[in-house]
Amino acid sequence: MTTPRFGGPSELAAALDEVGYLPDTGLAAAAFLAQRLRRPLFLEGDPGVGKTAFARAMADVLEAELIRLQCHGGIDATQALYDWNFPRQILELRAAGESAGVTPDVTSLYTREFLVRRPILKAVETSPSVLLVDEIDRADDEFEALLLEVFENNSVSIPELGTISGATPPLVVLTSNRTREVHDALKRRCLYHWIDHPDLSREVEILRRRVEGLPDELAGQVAAAMRRLRAANLVKPPGVAEAIDLARAAVELGERSLTDTLADAALGTVAKHHDDRAEVRRLLAPAPLAASSFAADPDLPDLPDRADRADRADRADRADHDGHEAGRGRA
Ligand SMILES: Nc1ncnc2c1ncn2[C@@H]1O[C@H](COP(=O)(O)OP(=O)(O)O)[C@@H](O)[C@H]1O
Ligand SMILES: [Mg+2]
Repeated sequence: MTTPRFGGPSELAAALDEVGYLPDTGLAAAAFLAQRLRRPLFLEGDPGVGKTAFARAMADVLEAELIRLQCHGGIDATQALYDWNFPRQILELRAAGESAGVTPDVTSLYTREFLVRRPILKAVETSPSVLLVDEIDRADDEFEALLLEVFENNSVSIPELGTISGATPPLVVLTSNRTREVHDALKRRCLYHWIDHPDLSREVEILRRRVEGLPDELAGQVAAAMRRLRAANLVKPPGVAEAIDLARAAVELGERSLTDTLADAALGTVAKHHDDRAEVRRLLAPAPLAASSFAADPDLPDLPDRADRADRADRADRADHDGHEAGRGRA
């Protein structure tokens, strides 16, 4: 099977657009080059800016299989690369022992038949494929060394079996929500792109695509509200996902504009932290005077300093965590 080839970033952007993903121009260029230069693409950005969705859309346009590795604390090679099917190996041993009365050669237990393929090995063996290494910032930093080794050789080596590689290496997309800094060594291997929140017109366009039956005026109001919310000093600023949820809620509730009624009913689609509720409610449907300037909104203040927001989110997460711990202690 041959994957489609794109003449340039704008051709790729048009193809992504066709499958419902609207990239900014920098992302389309980075993605085009990552594919051509066969380099992993490292995407960083706030939660909800479309990192995971981008990898899905790339798989669609490349007519490739999407293989996802969700990272988490403690993830290791047996979850990312491959493992051995231990229960089956034991059964095989027993069966052989019973029938012949002799212990079989253990090397016969380390063949492809007993191999459990985890996402990276699967991606290396599947052509064409897009390997999404999602939320790498959640993994421990030793895990990055393991990835580096795989990307260096585009193969997985298994001592018992040898080196496994496929016809075409997968397009690798790594994402990070930047809860910690990822090592330079890994970044150096990749093409890097920071995904920002979409500007007003692109967010309106995304909403139109993703939310059926959304009135144009409401799309503009929701996108404008997102700008106000992201400019405020919230613990959890909303991403595109929240904008889509709010718009879908409006359609379900039969609301045609962003009124107090909608803000009250759909607050939970946008306010994702207890401390943010009052501010989100206030900014979703501001007093009528401000509401008349929804569409233009030329002079919004700059986004608050990232470090400050990260610090607030961090403190809030710790408070959440302590709360859970305390809850467990009582149980
Ligand atoms: N540029 C975009 N074009 C189309 N949909 C988008 C875009 N950016 C975000 N979305 C939508 O917003 C939602 C959140 O995106 P997601 O990829 O989960 O964010 P992230 O992985 O960065 O946290 C998804 O439903 C996605 O489809
Ligand atoms: Mg994601």
